[in-house]
This record gives sequence, C-alpha cells and structure tokens, in this order.
Amino acid sequence: MSKALKIAVIGGGSSYTPELVEGILKRKDELPVSELWLVDIEEGKQKLDIIEALTKRMVKKSGLDIRVFTTLNRREAIHNADFVITQFRVGGLKAREKDELIPLKYDVIGQETTGPGGFAKAMRTIPVILDICSEIEELAPEAWLVNFTNPAGIITEAVKTHSNVKVFGLCNVPLGTKMDIAKLLKVDSKRIRVDFVGLNHMNFITNVYLDGYSILDEIIEKYSAPEYHEQVEAISDIVWDIDFIKSLGMLTSPYHRYYYITKTMLEEEKESVRTNGSRAMQVQRLEKSLFELYKDEDLNVKPKELEGRGGAYYSDAAISLISAIHNDKNEIHTINVLNNGTITNVPSDAIIEANCIVGRNGAEPIHIGAADTKIAGLINYVKSYEKLTIKAAVSGSYYDALMAINANPLVNEYSDAKAILDELLIAHKPYLDYVKK
Ligand code: G6P
Repeated sequence: MSKALKIAVIGGGSSYTPELVEGILKRKDELPVSELWLVDIEEGKQKLDIIEALTKRMVKKSGLDIRVFTTLNRREAIHNADFVITQFRVGGLKAREKDELIPLKYDVIGQETTGPGGFAKAMRTIPVILDICSEIEELAPEAWLVNFTNPAGIITEAVKTHSNVKVFGLCNVPLGTKMDIAKLLKVDSKRIRVDFVGLNHMNFITNVYLDGYSILDEIIEKYSAPEYHEQVEAISDIVWDIDFIKSLGMLTSPYHRYYYITKTMLEEEKESVRTNGSRAMQVQRLEKSLFELYKDEDLNVKPKELEGRGGAYYSDAAISLISAIHNDKNEIHTINVLNNGTITNVPSDAIIEANCIVGRNGAEPIHIGAADTKIAGLINYVKSYEKLTIKAAVSGSYYDALMAINANPLVNEYSDAKAILDELLIAHKPYLDYVKK
C-alpha cells in the first residue's frame, strides 16, 4: 500500500457523513487514510460539531490512526487533499422545501433533482461548485473530485465544462439497483452485472447478467411484483405497470416515474404534502431525530436509523470508487463521466451515467452504441435542459434561465415556466440574486 491519503468532505456536517466514515473504516486494509477533513459553513457549525464527535468515536473504536479535523475554512481542508468529496446542499433543507412546493402550486412536479426544483438546486449549486473547483485547481491540482451533490449529472457537467478538475459524479441509484436485483434473486451482488444507458436519474437498464448470462427477461417478469423493492423510499411506492415495462423491454430508474406517470406522481406529491409534508419536511424531521441519536456519547457506529434516508449504499459507492482509483483496480463502477462517443446518439460533450473501468488514470466508459429510439428522445430532451441550465448558471442571464426551465420536459406551459422561475428567484434571492435581465 502506498502513501497515506488526505480526504476532504465538503458538507461534512451532513447527516450522511457517518455512512462515509463507516465506508472508510470498512476498507482499512486497502485505503490508508491518514487525514479526514470535514468542512462546513457557519450555519452548519452545530451539526458539524456533533458529526465530529461521532466520527472521532467511530475512528477510536476502529483503533485506526486517522486524524479527524473539522473546519469552516474550505481552503485549509482542500490544501493537498488527494480526494475531495462534495455532498453539500446550498440553502439547506429549507431551500429544498421551496423547490418542492413552488412548482406544485402550478401543478408541476416539485422534486429536488427533477423538474423546476432540480433546476433551482442546480442554479444555487453551480456557482459554489465552480468556486470550489478554482480552489482545487490552486491548492490540490492532482486531487480527484467525487461529487455527490445533486443534481449530480448537471453539477458534474458544469465542473467538466468550466474547470480543469478531475471529476467523477456519483449516485447511489445504480449500485442500489444492482443490490435490489441481487436481493430479489437471493444471490451475492458480485455475481450480478447491470448494463445502463442514460443520464443520472434518467438511466435505463438494458440488460442484467447473472454469472455472465443475461436474465433480463426473467427480471422483467418479476419487475412489478411486490417483493421487488426498487429503491423508492425517497420517491414513491407506485408499482410500474408490467405491460409498460414489457413494451419498453428495459428496466427503469425510480425517477422515471416523474416522466411516464406524471399525473399520478403529481397527485401523490400533493397528497403527501397534505398528510405527511413534502419530502424535505419529512427529511427535516428525520434529521432532527438522527442528530439526537448522533449526540449520544455511547454511540460509536453508524446508527441503523440512517437507512431511513434515500442514500442507501452511498458510502460503498464513494469509498469503493476511491479505492479503485487509489489501488488501480480497473474494476467496473457506474459513474457520471464524459460521454465522448460512448452513447452515439447523445452529444459527445455531455456527462452521462455509464459503466466505466476505473483505475489510477481515471474512468474509461464501456462503449454502449446508440440508445434505442424508445428512450433516445427523452434522454436528449433532458440533456438539452441540463445544458441550458448550466449555461444559465454560468451567464447569470434571466433569459437563459427562462429558456432552461422551459426546456424541462416536466414543464409544459410557458406561462407556468415563467411564473415558477420568477417565484423561485424571489424565494431563493440570497443564492440566485446573480440572475439578471
Ligand atoms: C436517492 C437519490 C439521491 C437523493 C436521495 C434523496 O437515493 O439517488 O440522489 O439525494 O434519494 O434522499 P432523501 O432522504 O434526502 O429524500
């Protein structure tokens, strides 16, 4: 094993951090982490302190020699880091609440990564991530950036297009899909391989292999059975119509519900707001109880209750990726990378979510070819919206922003697009004041 590693986590006060710490400790034999830096902002100080104490207890229990630092000074954490993990949320869960509720007033899906909610989140995040990237270029030019911040595909493309930072975008859904299939078949997930085509939160499963043999047809038959629990906690429990899946001939991502059963999802969201609050409201309640647990001085492991959040397998995805780079493993990971001809009918300069061979020199996507006509339209529709969003965040032009939100497939009426944009700009003024006519 080679040199000791410095890892910096931006958004270190997140309730997800114990998951990450567990992932690092689990891989102690392959990942020689010597310094773990947790960074947050002033508003997150209280949470950061609680996370710091828990992290130190977890490290102490492991007996490992990992030094844990917390700081509000991002530059100090990034300086000479080997890996920077971004998992921050600009404006916190209160901003997410607005992203979810404002579109709903116009009968448009309100969600943190899709539709106008995802657009607003991207507009708040892109200026911040690009600042972080300038700091990485200056203070740790060799570092790898592993980005979890949503909307992960858009954020990764903004970084790739507007900085020189080596970046991987990461999401837990592809790994979760593989684990769900393994559970359904009651086999070890190592025996499963899943082929994807598409984008983050817009990824179709075109094949599933068990020990190298395709079992897609068998999985399709089981797909809408109640025992198949596609990772839906954070999204919806609605089961797909099996005839839809058969006509598609592929499996879907949980997020496809927003596009194919939009009216049903809209009604479900409204009902949920009436009864249980929007997802951001539910998550705030969950977070409150999680942090109460984290405060317990006897707690020195990741508590099971964290599984109530949507980020299952988050640390496995992130830390196994870091290990694949560090140990030059050349193994398959599903990540957000530059298309560069992998999907031939999606722009080459787009970020896609694909299986890649990952090693010391980065990620080499496994060639896919053309996305089927059944799905190519939707993928490209979403990609155009994503590109227009990045353009708007970089130009700060109101007109670019208006065009981007209009280009979102979930927004069908120009007057709604404009009204939602105007409301979002007012609601998020502290973060979106840079958008001007
Ligand atoms: C899924 C997605 C993540 C998202 C999460 C939301 O796992 O892959 O991108 O952040 O759900 O979970 P939450 O508990 O915050 O609603």
